[in-house]
Amino acid sequence: MTLSKNLHNKAAEISKPNDHQGVWALLGPEGGHFLMEYIAKTQGDYVEIGSKWGGSAIMAATAMDMAGRPGTVYCIDQFSAKVISPELEGNKLLVEFWAYVHEWGVQQRIIAFQQVTPPLPYPIQFHKFSVGFIDGGHRFDEPIHDFILLEKRITDYIIFDNTEKEEVMNAVSKALESGWVIDSELEYDCGVPGYGDNTIMALRHE
Ligand SMILES: C[S@@+](CC[C@H](N)C(=O)[O-])C[C@H]1O[C@@H](n2cnc3c(N)ncnc32)[C@H](O)[C@@H]1O
Repeated sequence: MTLSKNLHNKAAEISKPNDHQGVWALLGPEGGHFLMEYIAKTQGDYVEIGSKWGGSAIMAATAMDMAGRPGTVYCIDQFSAKVISPELEGNKLLVEFWAYVHEWGVQQRIIAFQQVTPPLPYPIQFHKFSVGFIDGGHRFDEPIHDFILLEKRITDYIIFDNTEKEEVMNAVSKALESGWVIDSELEYDCGVPGYGDNTIMALRHE
């Protein structure tokens, strides 16, 4: 089987809803496969803004494993359970995140920062990454601010989730003005009932 087919199967495996959380890996099989392909074909570290329960981070780390390449997955999220539901206790989301990371056996690849962007966490302010994934705040200028944070730090691809949203497309427009070009995009179903179609888009330097 080709690496691409294996990545696709693994994205589907990771995306399976469970009894405990239902849908927890929010890219679904197709969006996850899209992200994993970009990670498998590059060489450096990966950073994401917006990790939630860890679906995209686990896919990124697994893609590195499957491509047989070195690399670290840096995750940034406030991991605030209260954002999801007022009844959840403070650190519940971070605890769940690490539980899933361990379940998929990729804990040695992952470093997680519990904070809100901006700024970038100080230990990685001057770091370079081959792929950056923007999937944090989707409202107002949040995606633009996250693009500005990452644009000088990314060597190969910036990937935006939810480009079906106007606020995210405003960040894409800013990226196009700054010399990035659209490499590919994909419409996918994240599996959450009522969410409708999502779009994920990868940009590269011209
Ligand atoms: C859509 S979820 C991420 C899903 C994850 N990438 C996946 O594919 O499974 C968005 C996450 O972004 C986080 N978030 C929103 N605004 C943020 C910010 N300014 N800084 C850090 N995290 C943020 C939220 O806490 C939430 O967990």
